[in-house]
Amino acid sequence: MKLIALSSEVRRALLNGQNCNRLGSAAVMPYAAAETRRLCVGCANGAFFFWRRTMTSPAEAKLQEKEKEKTEVEKNVVESSYWGISRPRVVREDGTEWPWNCFMPWESYHANLSVDLAKHHVPKNFTDKVAFRTVKLLRIPTDMFFKRRYGCRAMMLETVAAVPGMVGGMLLHLRSLRKFQHSGGWIKALLEEAENERMHLMTMVELVKPKWYERLLVLAVQGVFFNAFFLLYILSPRVAHRIVGYLEEEAIHSYTEFLKDLESGAIENVPAPAIAIDYWRLPKDAKLKDVVTVIRADEAHHRDVNHFASDIHFQGKELRDAPAPLGYH
Ligand SMILES: [Fe+2]
Ligand SMILES: [Fe+2]
Repeated sequence: MKLIALSSEVRRALLNGQNCNRLGSAAVMPYAAAETRRLCVGCANGAFFFWRRTMTSPAEAKLQEKEKEKTEVEKNVVESSYWGISRPRVVREDGTEWPWNCFMPWESYHANLSVDLAKHHVPKNFTDKVAFRTVKLLRIPTDMFFKRRYGCRAMMLETVAAVPGMVGGMLLHLRSLRKFQHSGGWIKALLEEAENERMHLMTMVELVKPKWYERLLVLAVQGVFFNAFFLLYILSPRVAHRIVGYLEEEAIHSYTEFLKDLESGAIENVPAPAIAIDYWRLPKDAKLKDVVTVIRADEAHHRDVNHFASDIHFQGKELRDAPAPLGYH
């Protein structure tokens, strides 16, 4: 029994890719079964077993990993039913199953690619100039940190871009409650912008995985930016929207540079992530270039919305006095 137990322990160690030398020491070997000794012959001189690594090709290992991930995801899926009400079966236009819970087919759209990308709001007064200079100053450390790593840059900056819409929408929501007033659709418009920016992030993160120090940076930047923008929006929504307008102008510039690198081959034009194909109704064989093109069109839309919002405030009016630009996303 003792020999069988010892033999199985050695087998287990071998299969787990451990250093067999520890088990094949002089103190143990005399007690090991003959078969086990044969297995351990290679480690008599202190050699390591790498059987598992050599037996599985990288492609097989990748496939196994994907299968494992799929099983994990399936395990974590909660039955879509609450109080006996199940989610209706959602399908694409071609009848295939809709795989996303985070957005529905009726929330997907074709980005307006005819939008004018070159539009620029010329700073006319002191506050506009402050907003413009602030954004230009913010760009310096961003350029220094990311250089031409546009995938990483987009992934990181989308974590910031999704904040203003949420802050503005939340504050307008609270204002509507306090003043017993309609918002003119602006709560929805700003929350839609935040959601759209978050979808940019969900798309980019499929292509670029954040490193631990980038996650830490996002945490710090969000802590500072959310609070700073919250205070700014309370003090001057006009300046807050103008800053966002200029930030969006910079985003258009960054995505244009991203496209240049994709066209030149400096960045590989990989297939578009599945989430992007469904969200922007892209063709099945769409590439990263198509994704960046539609994201850039979204940014141009945000630019126009935010400069428009700032202009309304500049005229001494409130946002609810002008109909909100709804229905884009
Ligand atoms: Fe974005
Ligand atoms: Fe944007």
